Amino acid sequence: MAGYFGTEIQKRLQKIAEESAGFIAATPGACQAGRMMGCDDPEMLGWDRIAEFVTRDGVCAFRLLDARQIKELKVQLARRDCRLDTWDVFIGDKERALAASQAIISAGMPDGLAELKMAADPDDQLTENVQMFMAEAGMVPFSGSMLVGSVGPAATALIGNGDGTLVATAHGYLPHNVFSHFHRYAWGGLVAVSEKHRCKGLGKFINALIIRTVFERLYASHVYELVSAGNTASRRMVEACGLHHDPAFVCGIATPVDAARFTR
Ligand SMILES: CC(C)(COP(=O)(O)OP(=O)(O)OC[C@H]1O[C@@H](n2cnc3c(N)ncnc32)[C@H](O)[C@@H]1OP(=O)(O)O)[C@@H](O)C(=O)NCCC(=O)NCCS
Repeated sequence: MAGYFGTEIQKRLQKIAEESAGFIAATPGACQAGRMMGCDDPEMLGWDRIAEFVTRDGVCAFRLLDARQIKELKVQLARRDCRLDTWDVFIGDKERALAASQAIISAGMPDGLAELKMAADPDDQLTENVQMFMAEAGMVPFSGSMLVGSVGPAATALIGNGDGTLVATAHGYLPHNVFSHFHRYAWGGLVAVSEKHRCKGLGKFINALIIRTVFERLYASHVYELVSAGNTASRRMVEACGLHHDPAFVCGIATPVDAARFTR
């Protein structure tokens, strides 16, 4: 397994998350965040372990936390010179998200574009092209192994133009282990559309494709996507696919106080 991508730090964090897949699957409160170690229940995982991650890695991801836990989390992180960058959580159950997504898929995509098959090999040139495409859109991609589904159940949707050049990507996977209430919740994200093709409905289309896939192929019960405040296109895209903002949940990344936001 490999296909690490990005800066040396990003690659090191991807490697740690990937090599910890066994630990993550077996440890209550841990979850697979792909880009770094992750936690979906700080009480279950324990503050000492979270502190170990933050001290070793400089970062730690938090998924689907109860918004009432955030105050205590920020206090704990401040003791370790970290802040919490947050994303709004948009969530949809199978019935609603699948119905909205099917309607978008049925309307079709712009002429001249077609779905492409994702590579099976983490080190394939196509995998690297997908990572570069995501990075150019301002996101920190996942490792090749995550994208091709060799770390756990996952799917990557691709759309290309007539000569096979990528014009849109999206990814979905199951981050939460059997101890988690969110075990069958899929994460959707890494949605990118090339600048030339934006505002033509392609974001909605590829997002709808990945939502359909997480329900039909990964057997998810729900799907959630993370949107940073101010990313209006992303917010409208996920809402069109049947997801709604649920302020009862918060996702975030613990980041050193003097560092930039980890990803878009
Ligand atoms: C987010 C992104 C994928 C949207 O792709 P797109 O193909 O332009 O989106 P669509 O044409 O399907 O439009 C989706 C919705 O956003 C709206 N929208 C698109 N661009 C917008 C903009 N710049 N400002 C406000 N709204 C915008 C559209 O009107 C549509 O809303 P509607 O259905 O209510 O009319 C694209 O902007 C992108 O690649 N951004 C960079 C990466 C990113 O931020 N990804 C999301 C984080 S995972």
